[in-house]
Amino acid sequence: MKEYKRYLITSALPYANGPIHIGHLAGVYVPSDIYTRYLRLRGRDVIHVCGSDEHGVPITIKARQEGVTPRQIVDRYHELNKSSFEKFGIAFDIYSRTSSTVHYETASEIFKTLHDRGEFIEKTTPQYYDQEAGQFLADRYIQGTCPHCSNENAYGDQCEKCGSSLNATDLINPRSTISGSPPVMRETRHWFLALDRYEPFLKKWILEEKKHWKTNVYGQCKSWLDQGLQPRAVSRDLDWGVPVPLEGAVGKVLYVWFDAPIGYISATKELTPDWEKYWKDNDTRMIHFIGKDNIVFHCIVFPSILHAEGSYILPDNVPANEFLNLENDKISTSRNWAVWLHEYLEDFPGRQDVLRYVLCASAPETKDNDFTWKDFQARNNNELVAVYGNFVNRAIVLTHKYFDGKVPERGILSDYDREVLAGIPRIRMALEASLEQFRFREALKEAMNLARLGNKYLADTEPWIIFKTDPERVKTILNIALQISASLSVITMPFLPDSAFRLMGFLNIDNIPWEKAGDSDLITAGHVIGSGGLLFEKITDQEIEYQVNKLLAARDQNDKAGLSIAPAKGNISYDEFSAMDIRTATILGAERVPKTKKLLKLTLDTGLDTRTVVSGIAECFDPASITGKQVCVLVNLEPRKIRGIESQGMILMAEDPEGNLDFVSPGGSLENGSVVK
Ligand code: 2FM
Ligand code: ZN
Repeated sequence: MKEYKRYLITSALPYANGPIHIGHLAGVYVPSDIYTRYLRLRGRDVIHVCGSDEHGVPITIKARQEGVTPRQIVDRYHELNKSSFEKFGIAFDIYSRTSSTVHYETASEIFKTLHDRGEFIEKTTPQYYDQEAGQFLADRYIQGTCPHCSNENAYGDQCEKCGSSLNATDLINPRSTISGSPPVMRETRHWFLALDRYEPFLKKWILEEKKHWKTNVYGQCKSWLDQGLQPRAVSRDLDWGVPVPLEGAVGKVLYVWFDAPIGYISATKELTPDWEKYWKDNDTRMIHFIGKDNIVFHCIVFPSILHAEGSYILPDNVPANEFLNLENDKISTSRNWAVWLHEYLEDFPGRQDVLRYVLCASAPETKDNDFTWKDFQARNNNELVAVYGNFVNRAIVLTHKYFDGKVPERGILSDYDREVLAGIPRIRMALEASLEQFRFREALKEAMNLARLGNKYLADTEPWIIFKTDPERVKTILNIALQISASLSVITMPFLPDSAFRLMGFLNIDNIPWEKAGDSDLITAGHVIGSGGLLFEKITDQEIEYQVNKLLAARDQNDKAGLSIAPAKGNISYDEFSAMDIRTATILGAERVPKTKKLLKLTLDTGLDTRTVVSGIAECFDPASITGKQVCVLVNLEPRKIRGIESQGMILMAEDPEGNLDFVSPGGSLENGSVVK
């Protein structure tokens, strides 16, 4: 294999529209952090870049839902996620953001270069437009009925019920999620990256040269390439994003998947003036850590952009992971079905390594995997506590008990001793081989095998029993147990950095170079070890119960909410608002409209007059119970005949996502006819 001079590790830029959860961590950040720490321990020149992905529709939707600006959303989540990563110990060299000036410049420059070279096709195509909101609709802003499963709430890009991926035009009865009205088709001009032009290059580069990529990644690329690539729009009609840097491109921004991966370049620029050596020198090995939903963008689209630009290197590998589920259900930010990193850090202070361990041990490397709190507890109690912690604790405690904390000399070695000592470097090398192939679960298992080896060695040799009869033999046994402990502190460092560091303190040793792990004399006889302590502590049933209950409460809320709260509508002017004449009024009488389920005929005293209003509230309210109630009425709504009755206005009601209704009621202190404004 080629010897590289340096490494550029990138981790997918998470959208700044929500907090980081365990799915993100298991899929991307725990493996990328382990890998980077490992490279650093091996003395490699390596940088690890990441940051917030601050553009795109998920952000604008979240902003709309909350009635705030996209800027407020990204500021909030950028800060939260940056600090959570820091506290969790993900050792990025920089955590940047795609709203930075450097990023705007970098993304614009690359777009312009490609534009000037004629790499884009400019096309006018029809797209859904919301006339009420006055804007083009991204696929996520359109809902309608799925043509495959009849789910009435499928999105313009995907049906979340049956999982089909859709085009907005596939939806039956499409409606805008902004105004609720049916969208119309309108022509709009965009720039398309002609991916089909790069097919020969991509086929050679991936299908011939990247056969060693993970099968899930290679397979997805092959299926894209076999189907044939189509030009892809790289601009959008949106008011949030990097503006298209061309004259006359008003209201157009770069498609988020055009600018986001360029964020890796911008982040490197921000990190070091020497950024070009990481991006433009073939001696750099670039590795993208991502989740499986990002494969096409990192293996097909971004490499095409870099290839077309011409001066950048391409990724050497893209070890994408599958998805992590939570308690047998898909993790979802919008449904609040997740274990959030910032909450974990609060609930389990100082126990970052436990989560790192569990997420690595059950990482969705080759298939989707499931996280359960029971498994979390079991892995902590039965593996970290019972194997790793127990072994080093026994080695340290016995050394203090029998030899005042001084590392004893090794005497004559038995075959078993020799076998155990020879096992240590073998384990380190097996671990290296696994890490080099991005097999993190296997690598962690190897590290734990060393703790298992030590545990078994002590259990087999029973120094606590033979001390009375053969203290010389115990010296050898504890010397070997301490050598194993020292090696453990080195080889578990990438996976469990806090614990490895504490173990070094327990043993009173300094950093040992990686390659030395496995030597038989890492700790010399006579060295005085530290006082030790507990490396890991048991997690109680109560702690787990608390977490499970928290999840059940979230599920309850999801069930209750059914559909999520409707997103906010587009802005209207004050004049449009004040054109509505809303008054306080009292319901004088109510009766069911015959042969209807929903309709009540209400007689109202509006202060102005007594009038009739037909209202669709019969399923929620009994006529007798609402007589005498003061309500708010829109009195200048055009009169309309409903079932032969002229309805002269509309009473204001609030409705939750489940369809429950309630009156918008004044406090009762004002006369009928008072103006609501
Ligand atoms: O899927 C996501 O969460 C994207 N925000 C990942 C972007 S990765 C890179 F291209 F920036
Ligand atoms: Zn469907």
